[in-house]
Amino acid sequence: MKITEQIKQPILLEMELFEKKFHESMSSKVALLNRITYYIVNRKGKQMRPMFVFLTAKMVSGGQVNERTYRGASVIELIHTATLVHDDVVDDSNKRRGFFSINALWKNKIAVLVGDYLLSKGLLLSIDNGDFDLLRIISVAVREMSEGELLQIEKARRLDITEEVYYEIIRQKTATLIAACCSLGACSVVPEGPHIENMRRFGELIGMAFQIKDDLFDYTDDAIGKPTGIDIKEQKMTLPLIHVLNTCTDTEKRWLINSIKNHNKDKKRVKEVIAFVKQKNGLGYAEQKMVQFQQEALQLLADYPDSPYKEALIMMVNYVIDRKV
Ligand code: IPE
Ligand code: IPE
Ligand code: MG
Ligand code: MG
Repeated sequence: MKITEQIKQPILLEMELFEKKFHESMSSKVALLNRITYYIVNRKGKQMRPMFVFLTAKMVSGGQVNERTYRGASVIELIHTATLVHDDVVDDSNKRRGFFSINALWKNKIAVLVGDYLLSKGLLLSIDNGDFDLLRIISVAVREMSEGELLQIEKARRLDITEEVYYEIIRQKTATLIAACCSLGACSVVPEGPHIENMRRFGELIGMAFQIKDDLFDYTDDAIGKPTGIDIKEQKMTLPLIHVLNTCTDTEKRWLINSIKNHNKDKKRVKEVIAFVKQKNGLGYAEQKMVQFQQEALQLLADYPDSPYKEALIMMVNYVIDRKV
């Protein structure tokens, strides 16, 4: 059995019901919107965020989920989808999940509006059902994601990012949403007590490893369903490059910065930068940091009693760094 199937085993029923509810949660009276959301749900991603929601909920409650858990999972996936639609506009990316991105097919104008629509549908799903504790968790994540993407743009313009700032960017833009999945999962079934914060921290740590893995993909030629090699093109400095900038000579550093600043659209030059980062072990360093975050996340699960849900979460933690897409 594939590892992802193994992970889903204890939440099969939940994931099946989730997909139905998720699709329904997008519906609109506007035909154009329905066409686009139909396109989106037919190209689903890995659905790791709802998996985190259901697995944490079941782990802390001994196997229980409820309607709040389902709504929470839908809200998070709606928001995740909205941010991807917007992110592809921001990053000027034409591919997502193995096919054209929304901006590639319908242009930026429509992509911006569709993203807003999905975001508002998500927030309303919580509000209409009075899930205000969950809505707080989600809203914090939404704010942080926007801040993270903006901090990233600020640093890309000045090309002066440090390793610490990089961690802050990925914590905000990616880890907070995965943290929200895990704390919301817990909160949906056990609304008070230490699980909510424990699971938030767990999600944050695994979310950090998750984004480092994503940034490593960008240095490969692997078929991951979206473009690779575009981070440098967008002057996005990620951990492999930051590490090399911190460890190379001044001359090499000047060449790197000049390449990123003035030759970032030159394919040959970008390839040279990538080769240089690889040669200087930038990928190895980033992998090592990724494993550190992953191990820290694993440790937070240690205190929970053994169960099929905990076992699946452990597999999930390993999948985050071993995955091929
Ligand atoms: C992509 O997330 C965006 C990042 C935070 C790196 P996923 O890799 O979970 O995207 P899908 O939903 O599986 O397509
Ligand atoms: C994560 O960053 C984006 C969000 C948090 C929405 P990336 O820009 O690296 O994500 P991908 O690679 O486009 O999926
Ligand atoms: Mg992007
Ligand atoms: Mg990326």
